[in-house]
Amino acid sequence: MNKKLRAAVMAGNWKMNKTASEAAALYDELIPAVKDAGCTVVTCVPFTDIAVAVEKCRGTNIKVGAQNVHFEKSGAFTGEISADMLVEAGVEYVIIGHSERRQYFGETDETVNKRTIAALNAGLKAIVCVGELLEERELGITKEVIGRQVKIDLFGISAEQMKNVIIAYEPVWAIGTGKTATAAQAEEVCGYIREVVAGLYGSAVADGLTIQYGGSMKPANADELLAMENIDGGLIGGAALKAGDFSALVESASR
Ligand code: 13P
Repeated sequence: MNKKLRAAVMAGNWKMNKTASEAAALYDELIPAVKDAGCTVVTCVPFTDIAVAVEKCRGTNIKVGAQNVHFEKSGAFTGEISADMLVEAGVEYVIIGHSERRQYFGETDETVNKRTIAALNAGLKAIVCVGELLEERELGITKEVIGRQVKIDLFGISAEQMKNVIIAYEPVWAIGTGKTATAAQAEEVCGYIREVVAGLYGSAVADGLTIQYGGSMKPANADELLAMENIDGGLIGGAALKAGDFSALVESASR
């Protein structure tokens, strides 16, 4: 089974939650709870929590990620954060193109592509998010939408750089709604993403690519999702804010 070749990565996306002091308190619970994880554990925190996250996670098995990165190296981009800034702050991972960025902040596949290239060039690992809207699923165009996103988001990225890319499949209708895609629905799209990547880069790159599912993943549904051949981990929102739930999810991925 090719699944065994791939790194299982469980990443928490804290979104706009936790002040620095609240983050410190969550790490105090989380660090002992996931210390024996058999998978990679990442926490993607707000920019203002990065310093405390890096401090707390030093010497532990928890990696620190950010939730966005700008594509320019530096300059007059008020309010933005560059990839070099993240690297110097001790960040290893960055989420790019989350549907909330696409929906509320005008992200497009073109900007997702530029951000991904900037992140990879700076030495970050990119968690690139794709996913269809409910209307798109109902219209029967999920695969077209996902294929287009994957192709544009990865445009110009080399096979070598793909070692530092994770794709997160997050059906928009399943995010924060309590509605999880069924394991079969998630597997169908994650398998399709792998096919598209195989078409772009060949099967060796596709077989080695970690693909996560995200959208209302919780301890009650994780085992079934993570048992799927093409689902190698999770991108977790709400349940990542509770040490007990997140560590249970990490345990599911460690089996
Ligand atoms: P929820 O787990 O809260 O549905 O959020 C998923 C998500 O958007 C992770 O990036």
